[in-house]
Amino acid sequence: MHAGPRRPILGGNLIGGESVQRQPWSQSRFAGIFGSAEGGRRYTEQHAAWARKAGAVFAWRLRELERSPRRMLDVGSGSGDMAVVLAAEFPDARITGLDLSEHMVAIARERVAAAGLSERVSFTQGDAARLPFEDGAFDTVVSQDTLHLLDDPLPMLTECWRVLAPDGALVLRSVRRSWLGLLDPIFRTGYSAQELIGLAERAGLKGARVIGSLMYLMLEWTGGA
Ligand SMILES: C[S@@+](CC[C@H](N)C(=O)[O-])C[C@H]1O[C@@H](n2cnc3c(N)ncnc32)[C@H](O)[C@@H]1O
Repeated sequence: MHAGPRRPILGGNLIGGESVQRQPWSQSRFAGIFGSAEGGRRYTEQHAAWARKAGAVFAWRLRELERSPRRMLDVGSGSGDMAVVLAAEFPDARITGLDLSEHMVAIARERVAAAGLSERVSFTQGDAARLPFEDGAFDTVVSQDTLHLLDDPLPMLTECWRVLAPDGALVLRSVRRSWLGLLDPIFRTGYSAQELIGLAERAGLKGARVIGSLMYLMLEWTGGA
């Protein structure tokens, strides 16, 4: 675990979840979901509405950060539903979704085509830890519900930093590890706010900030300051 410097951002240890051991996703009962077409379709049926809501939240955060995205990357793009919402919110943006699962990439392509957005939104299969893009290729990187799935989160964050333009912006939402893990194991796979800040700093995302709720953490970084 790469614990970062402790900062009193979000209150005490109980909410921050420091006392709960993080469980790697690969050892969780959810690990197989994206490895098959049926698993991917089931996930999409159950989570499409959630992904669309997430798109609205990300659009709101990007506007709060005074961003007008033109080249956006969605890491762990899943069903593509979040990209569809972001494309509608930002008509000047070209969006690239990247996902490790070929099944999720196929589903996302279908859904974006059905929304009539294939000209501006495309998907590629690849690993968040080795992004197949040039340095500084994007002005905006978003990611939802993916970081906590990786046994080592640092390579993904380092890659996000690398592909961002120096004045770019990152908005990343991930499950927050907390005592809720006693009720639902997904909450054992996340990070505390302090850990997330520490990871971001190590990845090069200096000055990254975290906004927290009980279940999620939003990591935000803007360059060029
Ligand atoms: C929980 S889903 C979230 C999907 C989407 N972001 C959303 O919010 O609906 C996580 C996604 O991350 C993908 N994923 C897992 N490990 C990955 C990796 N190493 N690189 C890229 N994508 C990955 C999975 O295939 C899956 O589609």
